[in-house]
Amino acid sequence: MATGLPYKSQTVVTPPTQAAVFLVLTINPGADSESKVRSLCANLPGLLRAVGFRDPEARLSAVLGFGSEAWDRLFGNPRPRELHLFPEIKAGSRHAVATPGDILIHIRAARSDMCFELETQIIANLGDAVTTADEVHGFRYFDDRDLLGFVDGTENPVDAEANDVVYVGDEDPDFSGGSYVIVQKYLHDMAGWQALPVETQERIIGRRKLSDIELDDTEKPSFAHNALTNIVENGKELKIVRAGMVFGRPGQREFGIYFIAYSRSPAITEKMLHNMFVGLPPGNYDRLLDFSRAVTGSLFFVPSATFLDSVTPEGLSDSPEPPQAPTGSGHSVERAGDGSLRIGSLKAGPK
Ligand code: HEM
Repeated sequence: MATGLPYKSQTVVTPPTQAAVFLVLTINPGADSESKVRSLCANLPGLLRAVGFRDPEARLSAVLGFGSEAWDRLFGNPRPRELHLFPEIKAGSRHAVATPGDILIHIRAARSDMCFELETQIIANLGDAVTTADEVHGFRYFDDRDLLGFVDGTENPVDAEANDVVYVGDEDPDFSGGSYVIVQKYLHDMAGWQALPVETQERIIGRRKLSDIELDDTEKPSFAHNALTNIVENGKELKIVRAGMVFGRPGQREFGIYFIAYSRSPAITEKMLHNMFVGLPPGNYDRLLDFSRAVTGSLFFVPSATFLDSVTPEGLSDSPEPPQAPTGSGHSVERAGDGSLRIGSLKAGPK
């Protein structure tokens, strides 16, 4: 992709939604499977418009990402600078597993039927080209609480800061407007967690359970979740944008959280994972992991919508249609009142 053109990003940053689907697929062997997956890149905006228009207020959005091996199979070179396989971590009894994943589809809306319908259309489009590695239907639980009872998402960056946190900029000009995403499915030991006094739970999370107020420094242990995931380098806090959702099947005794985090470099989320699993210093690990087990782990690159526009069933077209230059400043995720859907955000790049 030519450097210096304006580009359109996929809609990575949205306010919290009521519903989400997290779909991780592997691509079946054969050139036909690869062409079908490449066709989805061009077809997705149309599917999104068709399903989304049935209730524009439900703000249906979808993000399409690719794993490292899939990138080589589908697109070859150039490749996003920091795209690699999810690095597994083993420390004591804690294990951040790495599991297969070629494609991530992250669907969000105010209505679970809209997510379901878009997922159905995407799967019909891909046909026998893919195998489902993992599928989670997430829902909003009361005041954005996780199933452990704590409000989740409070410290997430929003608005312009969120855009700056998630979208690749000048550091990799061929892939400006893209984003890295790490996903992990966690299952909770609810009985173990509920047996802890609330004060102990609050020290593990680093916030008050009912009010969601952060513990002050005199009360917060160095192993608190929000201490280990707070990373400051050269005086600057390194941030990610999380969009996790709870899921479960009480009848199966299954209670979990689907962790998903976007950032302009996967190294930030990886550093947080290191602090949580290995500990800072080593051994001072995140006690949440005594009650939550990661059962999946994958890393994907979410190319810009402009990149997706340039994908043909055979590969990449030489001259992608440049989008219209934005009229506002930076991301204009949607134009108010014109009925347009949240397919992408416009950004003049590189900054
Ligand atoms: C069992 C899995 C997890 C649970 C239940 C969980 C829950 C929470 C809760 C309740 C908060 C406090 C409210 C907020 O600011 O959102 C929080 C904050 C946070 N979490 Fe997690 N989390 C989990 C996994 C992770 C992982 C794997 C990462 C990163 C690799 C992560 C990164 C963060 C960050 C960066 C914050 C904000 C910290 C701050 O600056 O205050 N979380 N999480």
